[in-house]
Amino acid sequence: MNVFGLDIGLNTIKICQVFRQGNKIKPLSAGMFTAGIVASPLPGLLSEAETDLISLAGIIKKLHSDTKVSTKKGVLGIPEAQIFSRVIEMPKMKEEELAEALPWEAEQMIPLPLTEVNLDWQVLGEVAGEGGIPKIKVFLIAAPIIVIQKYQKVMELAGLELAAIETNLLASSRALLPPNCAPTMIVDMGSSSTEIGIVDKGMLVFTRSIPTAGEALTRAISTSLSMEIAQAEQYKIAYGLEDSPLEGKIRKVLLPVMEVIAGEIKKVHLYWNDNEKEPIKNVVLSGGTANLPGTTALLTQALGIEVQIGNPLAALEMDEKLRAGLVNKSGLLTVAVGLSEKEV
Ligand SMILES: Nc1ncnc2c1ncn2[C@@H]1O[C@H](COP(=O)(O)OP(=O)(O)OP(=O)(O)O)[C@@H](O)[C@H]1O
Ligand SMILES: [Mg+2]
Repeated sequence: MNVFGLDIGLNTIKICQVFRQGNKIKPLSAGMFTAGIVASPLPGLLSEAETDLISLAGIIKKLHSDTKVSTKKGVLGIPEAQIFSRVIEMPKMKEEELAEALPWEAEQMIPLPLTEVNLDWQVLGEVAGEGGIPKIKVFLIAAPIIVIQKYQKVMELAGLELAAIETNLLASSRALLPPNCAPTMIVDMGSSSTEIGIVDKGMLVFTRSIPTAGEALTRAISTSLSMEIAQAEQYKIAYGLEDSPLEGKIRKVLLPVMEVIAGEIKKVHLYWNDNEKEPIKNVVLSGGTANLPGTTALLTQALGIEVQIGNPLAALEMDEKLRAGLVNKSGLLTVAVGLSEKEV
């Protein structure tokens, strides 16, 4: 089954469809990526009102048709902040026994009744428990049914079909990392939130989300320097953390917000390295805010390991000129590309 990937962010909506030819994966068309990013309407998915969902669906429908996506079946990304996920250890048991035991475990970790969530899990592997008794590590994910229903509704209103939902970080890890990589941190710096994940041996084993990202940066400039939001956005993108012509004022305003994000990433880094044998080797960034000038340098200094901006187009077979032309946009496309590769 071929599907398209759809990432409905708070700032931009991205779509992508790829196909397999032999052992190569190609974008469906050359125009797929240039036409595949549009501004999100507000309040969009944040709203419960039917009219807002209808206008969001209208934009998605147009995006789907403008990019000439050839299937109606879409895989949607869900932010970490909307779900509950955790890695737990369980005694080693059969699949059927696990299916019975996990809801009991989930009940303790989720602040919602089990009847209100969709429960999913993935066995990550075996670990030695006390006295050498083998245990298994399980990644539990619970998504509120009410959120899933909203996604379903938007797709229906757009005349499309919801084939599957998966977390943004899971999609990002598929798009950015090779299978079986050494422990790597992936950080999706979007507009409303920054999502931090750790991928070990090809599996997402840790996630965290904080509500600080690009929007908070723009707001900081707008408030502190009394600028309109649109102008603050332009200054942010032009100068970021670099010394700016306004006597370094932009950097000064942005730095405390970026330090909140860097601090959280650092905490996750230390937590992992204190608890696991194999330390994190590098950090891969995605999302629009990863392009903020000076971000990679700031994080490299804060963490003391290699930090780079990931490129979800790197593994795709495509025209080199097109790839080069998308260099500043590719970070935005990570989740959509990863979702579209789910069933390729
Ligand atoms: N070159 C750039 N420098 C700095 N920030 C940028 C740049 N390009 C885009 N951004 C910021 O990135 C954000 C949009 O990124 P992205 O599309 O990844 O977010 P989103 O997916 O819509 O949001 P979320 O995932 O939080 O719902 C905006 O805040 C925008 O200002
Ligand atoms: Mg996003």
